[in-house]
Amino acid sequence: MPSIKKCIVPLVLIFVLTLCNVAISKGNIPTEWSMDTDCTLCHTHEADTLKNEKCLIYAHSDQSCTACHSQEKKLAVSHRKMSADTSKLKRLKRTTVDEANCIACHGEWKDLAEQTKNTTLVKDSEGTVVNPHRVRADINKKNQHDLITCTNCHRMHTESNLAEAANEECRTCHHKGVYTCGTCHD
Ligand code: HEC
Ligand code: HEC
Ligand code: HEC
Ligand code: HEC
Ligand code: HEC
Ligand code: HEC
Repeated sequence: MPSIKKCIVPLVLIFVLTLCNVAISKGNIPTEWSMDTDCTLCHTHEADTLKNEKCLIYAHSDQSCTACHSQEKKLAVSHRKMSADTSKLKRLKRTTVDEANCIACHGEWKDLAEQTKNTTLVKDSEGTVVNPHRVRADINKKNQHDLITCTNCHRMHTESNLAEAANEECRTCHHKGVYTCGTCHD
């Protein structure tokens, strides 16, 4: 005859699992993901950044999440197992946003370079100022700058210093802090 002690463990487990289930359905977490799902149900951190003036996403409060997060197939894979598991939500895979989305609203690199032609934020250690948007326009004869994309400098959901991020981006290759020839090799 099974003792009462042996039964109590599975019983408690069933009870707890039932409670969890109820809690999840109460939060209206859908069981299947689509581009129309309300992303903010789970991604509360990113939703909060919409209200933070220091985050660039603040300027995009009128845009839908999918205006930038448009890679439906990739996202569908990440959301295969729908869950509001908060531990997973804290350590997400670094995501990418197709720069074509940014360009559709903000214009091509050369247009951006024109709009920001007076900026002096990106400067090397010898004081040479370069417009950050020109590196994908006219300063890219050998396609050496093809890897540089909008979001390497413009972070959306974190408070970050644009000038610092931009200069840091250049230093990943121009490691001696100088843009001209003869600094990486003779
Ligand atoms: C049911 C909760 C839930 C909803 C709703 C949800 N997500 Fe997620 N999302 C997750 C979880 C959990 C992960 C982490 C997946 C992993 O790493 O295994 C994730 C990961 C991500 C990532 C990072 C990984 C990647 O593939 O780039 C992005 C971006 C993302 N979600 C965007 C969205 C967008 C956009 C929507 C709305 C259209 C959305 N999510 C709706 C739970 C959710
Ligand atoms: C659906 C249209 C749309 C998309 C997509 C979009 N933006 Fe924006 N963006 C806006 C609007 C609208 C504003 C606020 C008005 C403005 O300043 O032009 C804005 C503002 C900005 C600003 C601040 C401009 C300022 O004056 O300070 C930057 C920088 C920016 N966006 C970069 C990006 C980047 C990078 C991406 C891609 C990851 C992107 N945007 C995607 C519409 C968009
Ligand atoms: C190497 C870093 C870097 C990259 C890459 C970059 N930007 Fe910028 N961007 C800047 C900096 C720095 C400024 C600020 C200029 C200033 O205010 O002095 C800026 C300003 C802007 C502005 C504000 C323009 C205005 O009129 O004030 C927009 C919009 C913008 N960027 C969009 C983009 C988009 C879209 C892309 C990709 C196509 C992009 N940026 C790529 C560094 C970068
Ligand atoms: C204007 C473009 C834009 C919009 C609109 C936008 N995001 Fe993002 N999102 C990004 C970029 C760019 C990243 C990459 C990390 C960064 O730059 O902060 C990102 C990263 C993420 C991530 C992954 C976390 C990470 O650090 O990589 C999630 C999840 C996410 N966004 C959810 C959302 C949700 C939810 C919304 C709507 C409330 C939204 N995003 C709206 C551009 C956008
Ligand atoms: C992925 C690596 C990489 C990154 C990131 C990078 N550069 Fe370059 N850059 C190069 C290489 C390689 C050359 C030399 C190309 C050649 O042989 O003409 C170069 C050349 C240049 C030149 C031309 C030098 C000359 O004398 O003609 C300028 C200016 C420049 N980069 C500025 C920048 C700025 C500003 C940034 C940051 C916004 C940046 N680069 C980021 C790799 C990079
Ligand atoms: C950001 C670092 C960087 C800067 C700045 C840079 N180069 Fe280079 N360069 C490289 C790298 C990396 C290679 C590839 C070396 C290899 O393949 O072994 C290279 C290769 C070359 C080669 C081919 C060398 C060979 O033996 O085949 C030439 C020529 C060259 N660079 C010229 C230039 C000129 C001209 C400039 C200024 C416009 C310049 N580089 C600035 C990083 C740089």
